[in-house]
Amino acid sequence: MSDAAKEWDERYRQGRGMPDEPSALLVGNRALLPAGGRALDIAMGSGRNALYLASLGFRVTGVDVSPVAVALCREKAARLGLAVEAVVADLEDYRLPANRYDLIINFHYLQRSLAGPIVRALKRGGVLFFESFTIDQLQFGYGPKDPAFLVRPGELREMFARLEALLYHEGVIEGDRGPKAVAQLIARKSAQVPNRGRGPIRARRRPSADERGPPGCQGRD
Ligand SMILES: C[S@@+](CC[C@H](N)C(=O)[O-])C[C@H]1O[C@@H](n2cnc3c(N)ncnc32)[C@H](O)[C@@H]1O
Repeated sequence: MSDAAKEWDERYRQGRGMPDEPSALLVGNRALLPAGGRALDIAMGSGRNALYLASLGFRVTGVDVSPVAVALCREKAARLGLAVEAVVADLEDYRLPANRYDLIINFHYLQRSLAGPIVRALKRGGVLFFESFTIDQLQFGYGPKDPAFLVRPGELREMFARLEALLYHEGVIEGDRGPKAVAQLIARKSAQVPNRGRGPIRARRRPSADERGPPGCQGRD
């Protein structure tokens, strides 16, 4: 088991994990959620957001490295009669399927190498909700202490520059533990498929026998 898994297991065992209430960004921007479909919760913890999405009718998969957190999520889901596919996995090694999700959420877990895979894992028209502490969080005495786990000004927007931003905000907001410095992004993967400059692809008509000519002929000269 990785150090991250051990550390987070201990936190969840001691009840120092995450709050039960779903994220205010998610609830407050419900109007920007897709109508339904498949949702992925990256590093879902004990599932506060995954369970909220399941209650709205999404088919939710949640991934987290902590078996204790995932067990808590499964217990809550059973108690509430909700279905969440709760997966124990280390996201450093986890392959996201391409073009699978209508919605991906990523709250307070920063793994920069996942930016490309997250964009690929969204279906066209799919939506990403992302919230991360910024470097300014260091002044508030809780949250990550290592700057590697905090985004720099403008960084979250740059990470997902290929997506169309529906909301982007950086600043200090009121959180459940007092003020918190965050970057928040809600963004959509374009419904248009870029065609890499080759013009529209048209179905090719099979040439008739006359057009094909005799066997061995590769076309007219
Ligand atoms: C701050 S909590 C956020 C949990 C959840 N997203 C939420 O907002 O309630 C960070 C989560 O990341 C998980 N985590 C840390 N490293 C991970 C990794 N390498 N792979 C998967 N999950 C990881 C932890 O177990 C923890 O549940």
